[in-house]
Amino acid sequence: MNQEILNQEWIGLAPAWIKEAREGANSTRTGLLDKPMLEACGNVEGLRVVDCGCGEGRFCRLLADRGAAYVVGLDLCVPMIEAAMEMRSDRDEYRVADVQDLSFLANGTFDLAISYLNQCDLPDVDANNREVFRVLKPGGRFIIANLHPMRSAVGTWHRTADEEKLHVILDRYFDETERRWTVMGVELTNFHRSLSTYVRSFLNAGFRIADIVEPTVTPEQLKVYPQLDDELRVPNFIVYALGKPRNDR
Ligand SMILES: C[S@@+](CC[C@H](N)C(=O)[O-])C[C@H]1O[C@@H](n2cnc3c(N)ncnc32)[C@H](O)[C@@H]1O
Repeated sequence: MNQEILNQEWIGLAPAWIKEAREGANSTRTGLLDKPMLEACGNVEGLRVVDCGCGEGRFCRLLADRGAAYVVGLDLCVPMIEAAMEMRSDRDEYRVADVQDLSFLANGTFDLAISYLNQCDLPDVDANNREVFRVLKPGGRFIIANLHPMRSAVGTWHRTADEEKLHVILDRYFDETERRWTVMGVELTNFHRSLSTYVRSFLNAGFRIADIVEPTVTPEQLKVYPQLDDELRVPNFIVYALGKPRNDR
């Protein structure tokens, strides 16, 4: 599927996505993924950050609020970037760009790169990893949240007649092809890849893997977000913390 058709899907989803983000209503972000993502980012004070597939800019604003010196959010979807621009401060800016080609960014100019649920959207994840590696300074880090490969393989819960969740069946794991989902009523294409394919892509780009986290919910988070109970049962998401070696140019 070509990039223009993929982008049209995101343009269709953008109004509902932006509304949900602005209302803080996406519990998998606020109740599950933000914590391990922010922990993996560590102290961002004074850092130059690039966010690949930033959407309406929520995580860029979080990092700017935490003291990042400069955050540039990149997204191919114009309505997302327009929404992000509405809320920008003097430390975050936004640009319409395909994160598989960062040729407009100079080599070795960022301390930290983010990909928050974007790599599953990319036909060419190797290009994104290579480009992020290039624009990071030696010692720079790339923090990625993605759909867990075990869930991106199949996706849906099997339910009883009264909607109780029974189980997710893992299937077609080694079939690294497109998957179609319905998100907020809009058809969306993702690209499934196995765990070893992702790991090989990171290593081939030159990264070292510092950590891999499979987020689940704590009892405290469950009290606030009871709808996240399935996070105790299956791994929906994964966070990778990568580093560019210090001796690399
Ligand atoms: C799942 S959303 C995540 C948005 C944001 N990171 C967040 O956590 O709210 C994925 C985003 O990636 C963007 N995207 C998809 N393919 C892209 C590409 N090739 N280059 C740049 N952005 C892309 C979409 O437009 C969408 O905004």
